[in-house]
Amino acid sequence: MTSTVTTTTTNLSTNKAKIEFEGKTFEFPVVTGTEGERAIDITELRAKSGLITMDNGLMNTGSCFSSITYLDGDLGTLKYRGIPIEVLAAKSTFTEIAYLLVYTKLPTKKELTSFEERIASYDTIPDGIINLLKSFPADAHPMASMSAATVALSGYYTEFAEKIPKGEALEILIAQMLGQFKIMTAACYRIRKNLPLVKSDKKLSYCGDFLNMMFSRDGKANIDPEVIKALDVLLMLHADHEQNCSTATVRMVGSAQSNIFASAAAGINALWGPLHGGANQKVIEMLEMIHKDGGGYKKFIAKAKDKSDSFLLMGFGHRVYKNFDPRATIIKKACDTVLQKLGIKDPLLDIAKGLEEEALKDSYFVERKLYPNVDFYSGIIYRALGIPTEMFTVMFALGRMPGWLAQWKEQSESPVNRIARPRQIFNGHVNQEYTSIETRNS
Ligand code: ACO
Repeated sequence: MTSTVTTTTTNLSTNKAKIEFEGKTFEFPVVTGTEGERAIDITELRAKSGLITMDNGLMNTGSCFSSITYLDGDLGTLKYRGIPIEVLAAKSTFTEIAYLLVYTKLPTKKELTSFEERIASYDTIPDGIINLLKSFPADAHPMASMSAATVALSGYYTEFAEKIPKGEALEILIAQMLGQFKIMTAACYRIRKNLPLVKSDKKLSYCGDFLNMMFSRDGKANIDPEVIKALDVLLMLHADHEQNCSTATVRMVGSAQSNIFASAAAGINALWGPLHGGANQKVIEMLEMIHKDGGGYKKFIAKAKDKSDSFLLMGFGHRVYKNFDPRATIIKKACDTVLQKLGIKDPLLDIAKGLEEEALKDSYFVERKLYPNVDFYSGIIYRALGIPTEMFTVMFALGRMPGWLAQWKEQSESPVNRIARPRQIFNGHVNQEYTSIETRNS
């Protein structure tokens, strides 16, 4: 049995890929994206050939067309709706980016104001959600509470739980999600700390209101504008990242026409994993461990390289970026600026920089193209802002929410959306006899 795949490249519009299998040739169209990336469209593969594809980790599988975010892992570029992340991080704001992701274009002043007012108008969450957050044990991970609270919203807004909203109704729901997720995040933190909740303040910016709800002790938190700006940049950098694990999960769940709350909660669950968004918490725990151990990071580089040791250099490596992660570059610079402006000297930043320098000289990391990712330096900024380590992944979710919502919207509006339902190659027993329990051997 032989199988080969060839592509012809002379004319992109009539490109075909051929698969030869057991003496037969099957042709498939090659589709091309606006950035020139190409894919063999195998929609008819099984119908034509009886074959399916296997793709461990979906490393070669395109699951959708999307016009939201583009990234080139070899060049280390990232764009939201065609605008480079470096430009957005320097000039935009989190709410403007949320608008850009959801509505496809940059807003006018009027549009942005009305979008921000709409988000801010959701200045409460149902009492039942507060009670739910309070019902978790004090040592429960906040991602567990946030996931539960997010899906629980579908019990309070049943009109959106039963039917997929369209047009204006969907836009209102997206603003509601952005407003209420901010309040739930701050409430989750304060409940864990046994602090009274602080009301959302419509007059404040998105990040200003969030930080006020987090840190206010007497009705006023007097949050440093530098702190608000730093958080705004972090959230912008996290806002979307095309078909990563959590976003693909949101789309997977949404493909079944599950509601937006259930789909976003599924994204939160996927993000929690230490190989994905949970890495930001693990990075700081790792840096703290190295610090306690005396700061000698070379030993930990050796551990990361040792295949018999499960230790990984957390915050290093990425499925797509094989050059550098542009978000990490921006965050590393921001770390220096923020810590300097806040007058903080964090020994973990020195350890992180030393670790990076050492790793980037080491052939193990160089050959495998392992570079710091978005999670490597973000925790150092969150620490400086006073956010506790176990809340870091919730902060990531707060930043990623506009991306999840935009991707969910794009999918729900797509005329070609089908339920996502992969296949498998079965490798279990073909037949097994059912025996009575008394006669079974251990
Ligand atoms: N430390 C040590 N070795 C690593 C690391 C790391 N952080 N990351 C990858 N490698 C090694 C692998 O062991 C593998 O080695 P091998 O070729 O000798 O078997 C090689 O590099 C390729 O790695 P894969 O695991 O095949 O890469 P994959 O694309 O499947 O995984 C991932 C990417 C999950 C990000 C991985 O690099 C990792 O586990 N990193 C640490 C966790 C982390 O920082 N996650 C956050 C990612 S960014 C985000 O999701 C927001």
